[in-house]
Amino acid sequence: MSISSDAASRMEALREEINYHNYRYYVLDSPVISDADYDALMRELKELERIHPELVTPDSPTQRVGVPPSEKFAPVAHTVPMLSLDDAFSPQEVREFDTRARKSLGETGELEYTLEPKMDGLAVELVYEKGVLITGSTRGDGTTGEDVTHNLKTIKAIPLRLLSRHIQVPERLDVRGEVFINKADFDHLNSERIRQGLPPFANPRNAAAGSLRQLDPAVTASRPLDIFFYGVGLVDGYTFSTQWEVLKVLRQWGLKVNPLVRRRRGVEAAIAYHGEIARKREALPYEIDGVVIKVDSLEYQQRLGVKARSPRWAVAFKFEAAQAVTRIIDIQLSVGRTGAVTPVALMEPVKVGGVVVRRATLHNEDEIKRKDIRIGDWVIIRRAGDVIPEVVRPLAERRSGSEREFVMARHCPVCGGVLKRADGEAVWRCPNPDCFPRLVKQVVHFASKGAMDIDGLGPKVVEQLVTAGLVRNPADLYALTMSDLLSLERFAVKSAENLLASIEGSRHRSLGRFVYALGIRHVGEVTAHNLAARFGSLEALAKASAEELDTVEGVGHEVAGSIREWFDSRKNQEMLERLTELGVSPVPDEKGVASLEGRNFVFTGSLTGMTRQKAKELVIEAGGRVRSTVGRQTDFVVAGKNPGSKIEKAQALGIMVIDEDEFLRLVAGGDKGAGR
Ligand code: IVH
Repeated sequence: MSISSDAASRMEALREEINYHNYRYYVLDSPVISDADYDALMRELKELERIHPELVTPDSPTQRVGVPPSEKFAPVAHTVPMLSLDDAFSPQEVREFDTRARKSLGETGELEYTLEPKMDGLAVELVYEKGVLITGSTRGDGTTGEDVTHNLKTIKAIPLRLLSRHIQVPERLDVRGEVFINKADFDHLNSERIRQGLPPFANPRNAAAGSLRQLDPAVTASRPLDIFFYGVGLVDGYTFSTQWEVLKVLRQWGLKVNPLVRRRRGVEAAIAYHGEIARKREALPYEIDGVVIKVDSLEYQQRLGVKARSPRWAVAFKFEAAQAVTRIIDIQLSVGRTGAVTPVALMEPVKVGGVVVRRATLHNEDEIKRKDIRIGDWVIIRRAGDVIPEVVRPLAERRSGSEREFVMARHCPVCGGVLKRADGEAVWRCPNPDCFPRLVKQVVHFASKGAMDIDGLGPKVVEQLVTAGLVRNPADLYALTMSDLLSLERFAVKSAENLLASIEGSRHRSLGRFVYALGIRHVGEVTAHNLAARFGSLEALAKASAEELDTVEGVGHEVAGSIREWFDSRKNQEMLERLTELGVSPVPDEKGVASLEGRNFVFTGSLTGMTRQKAKELVIEAGGRVRSTVGRQTDFVVAGKNPGSKIEKAQALGIMVIDEDEFLRLVAGGDKGAGR
């Protein structure tokens, strides 16, 4: 054997070994040798190639970089056209796709689908002959693309030679995949570009495309590109029968396939997959813009055929865009739970991530200055998951000159207090301890079960309403509109309709509930019902003197004073007037309607006037429920003699603890009004 053929076989062995380790490292993500050992193999191969340049092969792992830049990219014809996909944006559209496909196939049963994340990158086609990478091209117009072979060869996840350990490689394989860049690498690349005074890429897809169309492969090599393969074009020497098999075999040939691909039966399972991937989306290291649903059987694919540019056997079920462009109409201030006063952009409504957005946080005064955001600006806004929409940046190039700078107010927009900004802090705060939190609590109490019983108005929603400036006192609830609610995060038409219906349904609650809802200091549920029973109308109660009030069961001197104080306040009077104007009128008696409807009771300790059983019956007769343990759902804990630890638990959870007398008044009085 000659020296040269010795070298040739050693080089061949080295290439095969290095290729295998590349596959372990870049495709399987599980290397079996150390970096140092890998480098040693690579060094040895390079050295042999230096000595025997005539033995350098195009698929040698050393050939990934260093090819001289070409003038421009030569055209490459795709033997089988590279199609695009029809989009679907709703489960309904996906069901329609499924119905069409089944009808066309005459298939009565459910179809098997292969489900894949839709990578947001750049489609390429690679041609392997006898397992060796020959050309790589972009999709181009689908028929002809550009030859970017040298650049593709710099991508470590692209094997220059297919693995033949498991399955013999075909004579020829045209394989398709999506080249992409990881989110983190994209951010890094962009900050690097900004540092160098270069324009940043708008998104990872553009970065991937720009990197692949570099004239100098060394530049491409410096960009962290990656690839997932998802399909084949022309194949000579292997016959697939399903898309699932395509993916499995590609993987065995050393071609990287997204690990999130699945095969499932029926359109509903395909729709569910979209939801599962959508939930994972944020956490994925790369960008995806939907899922691709493909009829699994290739025979069915054949029968379904293709339209002009897209197949009838696949559909892209897209996610809603998480970014959008709109205009800032105004910048207002909102007061947060901690008193932080945040500037909020009011925008022309725009759909982002599946919801209509009208408001976005601007964080603080400094942030507005830093991003140079002005009233009237066109801006890019972003919504990620459940996060509040935010303004990414203004489109300065679209300014007309009529934009106005934002000036931070010095007073709280809720209570008028003078705002304060602590040293070293970016936020301005309202120093009034009663301002925002109190308002939220007041409204939550107003809507609570024992009060106006407005379903769906928990602290979160109320905070949103108050923050948005839509609710400044409970009366504002009755002026809310559909469009108000749709401008808020987490509200869709259905949830908004439900809330408006619950608010509507609360206009004529019993007087007892209404009085309790007002949140007068010291007036609990029992006292409120006593007051209602005694005075019969709001007008009568509002006019009652402290002396008259004093005579009501459960009302002492202090409570009477507090009630008077409440009704004497101008602010409260205005609120009552507004409630009346908005059609809120409590009814004196709701005979026959159980007062304890849906309320949960827990008993602890021994009762003196009746048995526990009797007490439970009273609760149930009045529409309430009795539970044995204290939890968040508990409304009242009735404490008899020698109560147990339930009391502490109730206190910890802020649940009302009443004694036996109060309990009796509650079951006897309640909404039945004249119970005593
Ligand atoms: S299949 C005929 N599968 O989406 C089937 N495409 O709009 C055509 N893409 O050009 C492609 N991930 O760039 C397919 N798992 C996937 C994909 C995918 C991303 C891209 C690809 C294609 C475009 C079609």
